[in-house]
Amino acid sequence: MNAKDIHSTHQDHERDGADTIAMAELLDLDAEVLHTYRAELTSWLGKLTDPAPGHVLDLGSGTGTGTLALLEAFPQAETTALDLSPQMLHHLSKKAHALGLADRLSTVQADLDTAWPDLAPADLLWAASSLHHMSDPDQFLVRAFDALRPGGLMAVTEMDFFPRFLSDDIRLGGVEARLHAALNEGPAVDWTDNLTRAGFILEAKRPFVIDLRAPLPGAAGRYAQISLRKLRSHADGRLPEADLALLDTVLDSDGPDGIPRREDLTVRTTRTTWAARRP
Ligand SMILES: C[S@@+](CC[C@H](N)C(=O)[O-])C[C@H]1O[C@@H](n2cnc3c(N)ncnc32)[C@H](O)[C@@H]1O
Repeated sequence: MNAKDIHSTHQDHERDGADTIAMAELLDLDAEVLHTYRAELTSWLGKLTDPAPGHVLDLGSGTGTGTLALLEAFPQAETTALDLSPQMLHHLSKKAHALGLADRLSTVQADLDTAWPDLAPADLLWAASSLHHMSDPDQFLVRAFDALRPGGLMAVTEMDFFPRFLSDDIRLGGVEARLHAALNEGPAVDWTDNLTRAGFILEAKRPFVIDLRAPLPGAAGRYAQISLRKLRSHADGRLPEADLALLDTVLDSDGPDGIPRREDLTVRTTRTTWAARRP
């Protein structure tokens, strides 16, 4: 199983409302816990876009972790969020209304694996954790190229590996590392050649190292709980019983070693952004 397979459980069960709600919660938690990282990323993109973008597309927006960060970072910009899931877009619209940002947001339900809707040329495209979902990423990037104005910027972001939440204390004994190894995340994909093939010129490939330690943002415990539970659900038969039992101890939120009581939680991960220009 690789990272794509684990992520794709959402896509596979798009019809299943419960899965969509669970994914939406995870994305909202990600937005909260990794707020500082996203502010750093949008600020960096601001330096690569001159003049400031007036029209931004978020491709595979989910609940808008990126859309809302972009609306905040670029107060002049109109932003269009596109996603396969109407539920995700509805959730995003509600959040944008609550934040007073809805007047600069449009949402479009679209399958970006097929023909794209007609949209005004964009100054900035953002595709975070969505490119790996596409059945034909090269085709997606060609369509993205066509959706940009000449000189516009495309920002593709993918996570290099799933976040690590458990410190390597002696009792946990690296169980989380073994969990990740057992699920065979596979090496992170380098999208540089795909972008070049689509006609883009790569301006920068930048890893963002995220290493949060106590005191963590308030939502970090729930983020860890949901993320680890999702991985644990794939782990039966792939890890020794002792490791599974240890994981279950950590995932028992009422237990003495459960995540809500742990003071050694971390959020450690790396996400890479490719910033590529349409000449
Ligand atoms: C892992 S989520 C990432 C969401 C958001 N970009 C973020 O960074 O939080 C992937 C999103 O891509 C969307 N998606 C997957 N396949 C798609 C497709 N063919 N067309 C449009 N959206 C798609 C999913 O519905 C989901 O909201």
